[in-house]
Amino acid sequence: MVYPVPILAAGSVLRVFEPDSPQARAIFNLGVVCAVILGLIFVIVAGLIVFALMRFRWREGAPDPNQMAGNKRIEIVWTAIPAAIVLTLFVLTARTMTISDPPPASKPDVIVIGHQWWWEFRYPETGVVAVNELHIPLGKPLSLRLDSVDVLHEFWVPELTRKMTAVPGHPNHIWLQSDKPGTYLGICSEFCGTQHAWMHFFVVAEPQANFDAWTQAQLQPAAAPGGDAAKGLALFQQLSCVSCHAVKGTPANANVAPDLTHIASRRELGAGIVANTPDNLRRWLKNPQKVKPGVLMPNFNLTDEQVNELVAYFETLK
Ligand code: CUA
Repeated sequence: MVYPVPILAAGSVLRVFEPDSPQARAIFNLGVVCAVILGLIFVIVAGLIVFALMRFRWREGAPDPNQMAGNKRIEIVWTAIPAAIVLTLFVLTARTMTISDPPPASKPDVIVIGHQWWWEFRYPETGVVAVNELHIPLGKPLSLRLDSVDVLHEFWVPELTRKMTAVPGHPNHIWLQSDKPGTYLGICSEFCGTQHAWMHFFVVAEPQANFDAWTQAQLQPAAAPGGDAAKGLALFQQLSCVSCHAVKGTPANANVAPDLTHIASRRELGAGIVANTPDNLRRWLKNPQKVKPGVLMPNFNLTDEQVNELVAYFETLK
């Protein structure tokens, strides 16, 4: 089986060591402090062992060392030092948790829904439904509620926040913020089936004005198309597409599969497996199983003409 070569947007790699939010920075700083403390412990313990091995090795004819049982002072010292280290780490961790993981807001700003194998982002305030691209206004902490419709998934954007599991029937919460404008790659970091590896998403952090403009654009229903695109729309409604997908402005309103109202504005198809180009969309419609084996969309055995008409329609859905 030939797997497609994924084309990721420029710069979209996970940068675990470059935090861009107070939450991620707190976790990163704690990681550095822990690494230094643990590194020191390693060096001291390993050093003492090596020293003892060299200095006190067994020698021919040497007398047995002094045998002694118990030493109160040593026992107190080697209990107190680890206790102090553990207490220090505990205090630092508790402090980090108050920054990276404060209690959730009473109402979430975004509801994140994990699906096999894509992400849905619902903004309850405005009614925006986005797929695999989560836009956030710069510098503002957002309260996210994580749900899943099927199995465990895990939401992770290392530059911006901690990991959090999306559990079916048990909402979890996480805070998300970015201090730097940019596009961040997010992944699912808990095995969730065949295409777990292709459950990418983007977090787009942008100034409030851009975020508002994006929100307005997302709220627009699909316009009625002409020409081949109109044939595509007719096909879309006749075929079983509408049993799973929604396109605002048409009667299609199922929410099993990704909302397609703005599919043409997305960077990637199949949660990151290929770039969103008309050619890749054609390949997808021709046989989704060939592009993303195991994906829940079956092969509908569409003719080339049907595929072209559908692509013409989807390309109008900006
Ligand atoms: Cu979803 Cu792994």
